[in-house]
Amino acid sequence: MNSINRLISPKLLVISILLSTCINVNAQQKITPASIKDKMQWFADAKLGIFIHAGIYAVDGIDESWSFHNKKISYANYMKQLNGFTLKKYNPSAWAELIQESGAKYAVITTKHHDGVAMYDTKMNELSSVKATPAKKDMIQPFFEELRKRNIKTGAYYSLIDWSYQDYPGFIKDSSRYQVKNDYERWNRFRNFFQGQIKEISNQFNPDLWWFDGDWEHSAEEWESEKVRSMILTKNPNAIINGRLQGYGDYATPEQNFPVSRPKDNWWELCMTTNDNWGFHHDNNWKTPYEVITIFVDAVANGGNLLLDMGPMEDGTIPAEQIIVLKELGAWNKKNGEAIFNTIGGIPQGHYYGPSTLSKDSTNLYLFVHGNNSGQIMLKGLENQIKDIAVLGSSIKPSHKIVGKISWSHVPGLVYINLPEASLDKYVTVVKLTLEKPVKLYRGQGGL
Ligand code: GLC
Repeated sequence: MNSINRLISPKLLVISILLSTCINVNAQQKITPASIKDKMQWFADAKLGIFIHAGIYAVDGIDESWSFHNKKISYANYMKQLNGFTLKKYNPSAWAELIQESGAKYAVITTKHHDGVAMYDTKMNELSSVKATPAKKDMIQPFFEELRKRNIKTGAYYSLIDWSYQDYPGFIKDSSRYQVKNDYERWNRFRNFFQGQIKEISNQFNPDLWWFDGDWEHSAEEWESEKVRSMILTKNPNAIINGRLQGYGDYATPEQNFPVSRPKDNWWELCMTTNDNWGFHHDNNWKTPYEVITIFVDAVANGGNLLLDMGPMEDGTIPAEQIIVLKELGAWNKKNGEAIFNTIGGIPQGHYYGPSTLSKDSTNLYLFVHGNNSGQIMLKGLENQIKDIAVLGSSIKPSHKIVGKISWSHVPGLVYINLPEASLDKYVTVVKLTLEKPVKLYRGQGGL
């Protein structure tokens, strides 16, 4: 659901400029494109985040919140899962350690999903892991502490939608409680409630990143998105907000759907499940490490991040299949991370038939070779002199040959690189080209 890219809107830019030129505005509330760029730098460099959907839906292993909304189960039976949510093996330090091992630089955890069950001790109502489940625990604080110890940025997923709250209009898919336009007073009660929770999360956990969800049910005016954004930034001017606040976020969040052409957004993040579900589920359609790594590389080569999800069981155990994927990804990152972290998106399509990235100064070009593909790989239109060619994590130096360089033409010849089988990675091999100057490409159509 909702793969719409909700970018920083032109409206926000106008507001930003107005705010930054208005002398009466509190300095912390100024939103300027330049300051956005600064605060986004860690996110741009991070490339990999881990998403965690942990909630009562793990008890029966059914769709998070959607199962009652879509009438797969009655609301009463869905809520019975509260009694089975124990977190009795919850080990936040083991979670954080696994995340660190995967190479991820940030993690985003559900503080509250659409079902309205907060995973921390909210004072705004009684529906929380602390007050309404045998876990009797705040899941967020200890996890953020463990992340911070490891220098991993903290992200709070927060569902604007709350299908359990009596003053929220939406409930089951074909029955709403009321319409906002018919009862503003009631809507205001909900607004005070959800904004109160945002304040709590902000004050108690001070996340580096906010991952809102469910904005599609109401407009920016109804959510008061501008106010919500400014509340968050007043507390933490460097907080990053995802693109699900009806135009008031900082980056785009395509979901499950893979971009084919490079997104034009400055910052974007593909969120993706490891099987077909966000929360723990009896679904065995696991993506293999090869699939996850190739998708990850594809996102990074196109200038984006991957937010890879895991769904722990009700007791806090992470399913073995997810552990395998994270560990394999981590081992691959350890060997090949130079081509991933702190890089920028690669050269345009057409020069090399595969993904690529560049070092920030563009003098190192990294070509990714999928699977068991030894032999010659080809690069078109490279105007630079090549200083060196290496394979990350291997001592083998591939030879290369320039083919079809015509002495009287300015069009560069083709670069053929010979990749011996012994240099291949079991998933994706990285060939590093060191250039004498920042990459320069011939983009013409042949000819003289
Ligand atoms: C969707 C779903 C939600 C899930 C989220 C993760 O918006 O509504 O269940 O948590 O995607 O991206």
